[in-house]
Amino acid sequence: MSTPLLELTGVTRTFGRTTQALRGVDLRVEAGRGVGIVGESGAGKSTLLRLLLALDSPTSGTVTYRGEPLDRRDRSAVRRFRRDVQVVFQDPRSSLDPRQRVGSIVAEPLRSLRVEGDHRARVREVLASVGLDADVVDRYPAQFSGGQRQRIAIARALAPRPSVLVADEPVSALDVSVRRQVVDLLARLRDEHGLTLVLVSHDIAIVGQLCERTVVLHDGVVVEEGATREVLTAPREPYTQRLLAAVPRLPDATPAG
Ligand SMILES: Nc1ncnc2c1ncn2[C@@H]1O[C@H](COP(=O)(O)OP(=O)(O)OP(=O)(O)O)[C@@H](O)[C@H]1O
Ligand SMILES: [Mg+2]
Repeated sequence: MSTPLLELTGVTRTFGRTTQALRGVDLRVEAGRGVGIVGESGAGKSTLLRLLLALDSPTSGTVTYRGEPLDRRDRSAVRRFRRDVQVVFQDPRSSLDPRQRVGSIVAEPLRSLRVEGDHRARVREVLASVGLDADVVDRYPAQFSGGQRQRIAIARALAPRPSVLVADEPVSALDVSVRRQVVDLLARLRDEHGLTLVLVSHDIAIVGQLCERTVVLHDGVVVEEGATREVLTAPREPYTQRLLAAVPRLPDATPAG
């Protein structure tokens, strides 16, 4: 097996004395094999993503990036990591600075990660790839709909050409009518840019469309994991079966992988 892009081994994360958000989680994120993470509220999904993004550290266990633990004191290593592993959060209202123009928002990772090249050209290019016109650069986030704002957040994440895009409920704050468009956009970007997606979603149909593998988290433990098609159509665990029965579905989704 090749070295995974990201890997958690025996990871626990405890908050305070009593909350065990993750209890002995193993997870591999391999290039080109998107991973969907599903589970009820409080299962530990966001905690897991924060560890993958090096925004938090495990209480025990290890997190590696391309086979090595990330040394947070090594600033150029951290910059390389941040460039390679980007994130889109749930709510573009809170993730986009309302006082900045779109052009500056999308260029932000290029500036902070000191990416070389023509930033303005790159901003226009990524805006086009998410379906926004070049003239949006002079406008502010409030002038856009929720779906458009999420496109801006996706453009910002793609600007530094990451290999991995981590997304925590990327469409659940959006109107139902625009969710499918944003899911279709993510699918297209995944194919065009060879992105590896790590996606948390309550909506298993979205995981079905976007991710080759699915991991089911329950109470901080991975209770089931496998090819998405198998987990979605023939879940082994009663917990997964209940989860599948309970979740809403997008119309017309076809399972991937
Ligand atoms: N910073 C924190 N301080 C204390 N407890 C936390 C913290 N972050 C998460 N937790 C707790 O850890 C557990 C897992 O939370 P987490 O946010 O990872 O769940 P989740 O699966 O993302 O849930 P949701 O679907 O509601 O987003 C919960 O019991 C939560 O209250
Ligand atoms: Mg969460």
